[in-house]
Amino acid sequence: MAKIYAVIGTKGGTGKTSTSVNLASIFADMNQKVLLIDTDPAQNLSKYFNIPFPAEAGLTRLVTKADPTGCISQTGFPNLDIILNDDAKGDKGGPILPFLRESSSHIIYLNLALQTLNGEYDYIIIDTQGAGGLVQEAVILAADELISPVIPNYLDSTEFITGTVGLLRSLLPAPGMKTTIAGKPLPPCNAVINKMGRTRDARDVVEHLRKEFDQAGDGLVRVLNTIIPDLAVYNKAAGASEPAHHFEPARPSYSPSAKETMVNLAYELQPKLIGTAPLWEV
Ligand SMILES: Nc1ncnc2c1ncn2[C@@H]1O[C@H](COP(=O)(O)OP(=O)(O)O)[C@@H](O)[C@H]1O
Ligand SMILES: [Mg+2]
Repeated sequence: MAKIYAVIGTKGGTGKTSTSVNLASIFADMNQKVLLIDTDPAQNLSKYFNIPFPAEAGLTRLVTKADPTGCISQTGFPNLDIILNDDAKGDKGGPILPFLRESSSHIIYLNLALQTLNGEYDYIIIDTQGAGGLVQEAVILAADELISPVIPNYLDSTEFITGTVGLLRSLLPAPGMKTTIAGKPLPPCNAVINKMGRTRDARDVVEHLRKEFDQAGDGLVRVLNTIIPDLAVYNKAAGASEPAHHFEPARPSYSPSAKETMVNLAYELQPKLIGTAPLWEV
């Protein structure tokens, strides 16, 4: 059974695409079969890798036909496939949103499509647009678990609590109901602090977030122990079309490397992988 992670958040620029790529790549280097899916019309994930021979179809067929046939492209990295977003227009006239609006049953087509791929992958990681909306809701309903990068400052952490967590809670159809219309409980959300700086302010925000969700007591959100530092390597790796842990220029000695950070993230999310070393040597 593939484990389906959706990387979500109602704000742009928090690190959803970077986290999707880097987590998918570390899993792949741990010899896990991984599928990335780009659901953001900005297509940042689709453009991350240089893909010379894309598949004939992509996200549109997956979502509107509930059929992954012909949708899967090769990234060129072992164990790592991708479904490209071929709906660049999104809410400006692309085909996917009208389809989701046409019937309330259409929102679970993505869920159905991914079930047919279950035997072929260990992990499916879905990148999303930084906003609320029907596509993001369809993704959340298809996911087993969520990952939400949060930048440790006042505005971003407030947006996470009210925007992202608010969106999640709104997906329970009625007060008192425990399952979504996909017939599953709400997927739990792993908040991962991203772009951590070395300031008192950032540490205070992290502490506040941990307290907030420990006290909520409903298990919907956990703030991961793994923290992704604010480091140039994450941006430079994107420019080189490489996962960050493959691309490690000189780094400040006070910060863990991208490889250490991503290995820790993979182990924390999937304790059964603890001890599995990634094959990639920097
Ligand atoms: N930990 C990090 N340190 C430094 N820069 C980062 C980090 N994570 C992401 N970035 C950079 O921040 C920008 C936004 O990240 P991205 O993953 O595209 O966010 P999103 O997909 O949420 O909009 C990109 O330029 C990316 O390279
Ligand atoms: Mg993005």
